Amino acid sequence: MNKKYNKLTFVGIETSCDETAISVVRLKPDNTGTILSNIVSSQIDVHKKFGGVVPELAARAHVQKIERLAKIALAKSKMKWENIDAIAATAGPGLIVCLTIGMCVGKAIAGTLKKPFLAINHLEGHALSPRIKNKINFPYLLLLVSGGHTQFIEVKGVGKYKRLGTTIDDALGEAFDKTAKILGIKFPGGPILEKWAKKGNEKFYDLPKPIINKGGCNLSFAGLKTAILRLSKKIKSKKDKQNLAASFQFTINEILKKKTKIAMLEFLKEKNKNKKYVFVIAGGVAANKTIRENLKNTSKQMNFEPIFPELELCTDNAAMIAWAGIEKYKTGEKNNLKFKTKPRWPLDENAPFLKGPGIKL
Ligand code: KG4
Ligand code: ZN
Repeated sequence: MNKKYNKLTFVGIETSCDETAISVVRLKPDNTGTILSNIVSSQIDVHKKFGGVVPELAARAHVQKIERLAKIALAKSKMKWENIDAIAATAGPGLIVCLTIGMCVGKAIAGTLKKPFLAINHLEGHALSPRIKNKINFPYLLLLVSGGHTQFIEVKGVGKYKRLGTTIDDALGEAFDKTAKILGIKFPGGPILEKWAKKGNEKFYDLPKPIINKGGCNLSFAGLKTAILRLSKKIKSKKDKQNLAASFQFTINEILKKKTKIAMLEFLKEKNKNKKYVFVIAGGVAANKTIRENLKNTSKQMNFEPIFPELELCTDNAAMIAWAGIEKYKTGEKNNLKFKTKPRWPLDENAPFLKGPGIKL
């Protein structure tokens, strides 16, 4: 490793949605990282009664917490501010009122310390996060499944991403949360829905699999949610609700199996077919045990090595933002104090926008 990067230590700040997170990460000589502290404060209680994230309330909670969390993160890391090499903050995509807070705080700290400030794409944070703890070479295939995003991405290198597929409507976490809400489960319902599904019969309801036979590895969940809404009006008993939860989860797994195979074949185009490539599954939905099992099996069948970053790195966190900062800094990115927040910021700028009615696949 280049000597000037020895023990490079970054503070990461993440406030793109409803998690206020600050972390300190250090580069190791083997080019993986050590997480010195990783503080995440969730706002689930703030938004629960509204059934989703309320931007202004989220922003207010970030303002109230961020200074105290920064102090805790530094104390936990046993570092002093003057020994931090740079600050990295999420600049997008996300809620503009929320992003602005992390960006302002990050820029203020960097300015005061006279250290570089790096603006990070939240999705790039997710994409590079498995490299903190694992020695993974580029290229690898990433499936990001969270409350806000559902994408297959070929990670070719730092700053080099090719989107192979995306949801054309709801994100997978959103589909879980909306289905859970229909069944009467409080936000965010994904994890509870998984528990209900365990008690139900997954073959009880035959649910639609939107665009399963078209659109490459693009995905769609809106039609599934509508079917569930229709069915839910006819059922009353807890057992039927459990059956519906189980059938929903089963259908999601069928969709993911098929679309993952397509994404893998697309990824392998013009590559050495005998080589084993890594398949990373990240985002909050990757916590679902049935999805993990399913994608492990699919990887085995397709000769990929599945990697699930540990849960605290899978869901929204600031360690991935600090880490993306380190990776970008190593490729020569310097100070970008003038960078403005970007609420819409696709990882692959060349990929077509595929959301909304009238999309042709
Ligand atoms: O990545 P994440 O923590 O936050 C962002 O959305 O960025 O993902 C949260 C999402 C929520 O929609 C939540 O319901 C879903 O991940 N989730 C799950 C499970 N655990 C979290 N969905 C299905 N099964 C789970 N066990
Ligand atoms: Zn995220």
